Amino acid sequence: MSSFDEIVDRTQTPSEKWYKYKGKDIIPAWVADMDFKSPPCVIEALQKRVQEGVFGYTAIDDETYNAIIAFVKRHYNWDIKKEWILFTHGVVSSMNVACLSVETQSVMTTTPIYPHFIKAPHHAGEEIIAVKMKEENNRWTLDFEAMEEKITPTCKLFMLCNPYNPAGTVFTCKELEQLGAFCVKHDLSICSDEIHADLILNPKAKHIPIASLSPSLQERTITLMAPSKTFNIAGLQASFAIIPNASLRKRFKETMGSMVGGINLLGITALKAAYLEGDAWLAELRLYLAENLKLVQTFVAKNPKLKLLEQEATFLAWIDASSLHVKSPYDFFLEFGVGLSDGEPFGDKKCVRLNFGTQRALLEEILERMQKAMDSL
Ligand SMILES: Cc1ncc(COP(=O)(O)O)c(C=O)c1O
Repeated sequence: MSSFDEIVDRTQTPSEKWYKYKGKDIIPAWVADMDFKSPPCVIEALQKRVQEGVFGYTAIDDETYNAIIAFVKRHYNWDIKKEWILFTHGVVSSMNVACLSVETQSVMTTTPIYPHFIKAPHHAGEEIIAVKMKEENNRWTLDFEAMEEKITPTCKLFMLCNPYNPAGTVFTCKELEQLGAFCVKHDLSICSDEIHADLILNPKAKHIPIASLSPSLQERTITLMAPSKTFNIAGLQASFAIIPNASLRKRFKETMGSMVGGINLLGITALKAAYLEGDAWLAELRLYLAENLKLVQTFVAKNPKLKLLEQEATFLAWIDASSLHVKSPYDFFLEFGVGLSDGEPFGDKKCVRLNFGTQRALLEEILERMQKAMDSL
């Protein structure tokens, strides 16, 4: 038995994921947090910090910067510098700051996508140029032809989600180089949300930070990373932006001003412990999630009216339910006691997103309920 099999009763804490269906016989499988306890190194570091009993304003020590620099080097072979790192309490805030920092009238991104990729440019008063992802070799990928058709001279920012939420694509070196060439050609800055980078499940896939590909891409990219999805500490609100270009970094910092707060001291504590000591736990987690994914794939394979393309990363499966011909696949599965993410805010209401970052026994129950729904058709 794996430690990830340990059932954690999250109904006893006001977890956003579980609170939504409190008191109802509905298993939540929506918002992107997992039902696992964080690694013991994180829990111990937090306990030790809480034990100190003083929670005043906190400085970020060199050890924390070094933990990030070493983690990024070890996992992604990218050499980053301390001064490139800016802390924020969340990647979503950073996406909003990025849109306000880059001077542009419009922002190009892809759909379906995590809704904040559409909301952030909208908040900044920028037009959204949304390009549909395309299906190629049983995988969701970028449609460069459509991107070339839609780009305008007033667009100066591309918002990239890699690995891709919701489809779980890990963009290859070739795809990222092609995207990089597109951004250089049209002089676009890039905001690359890499929050799911550590959760690569396909051993043949490899996460490559787009900024690490060349000095010219490094100079035009704001990379957003965080330990929150990886180590299940989203509630601690710890994330950081890596911005090598000094003027872009200055604008980002000025835009944050005193409105966007930094990371809190428990967030810092957890981040440092996870990056320094969490690798072995993370390796186990990936194996566990990969097995969970197989269960989801087997379930979909048994149900030809559902479609799941190849999924390389994340604990979120993007299931195309258009062949069910029901008004709302989200409502349809909800009636059978499973609370998935509705595809509509992502840009496709015929899809649902299933969070399989949970204990296997619970996932089996989720899939059994979904099977009952399918059998009812
Ligand atoms: C792609 C992506 N970016 C950002 C976030 C949220 O990040 P944060 O909680 O740090 O704002 C999520 C959470 O689901 C996500 O999937």
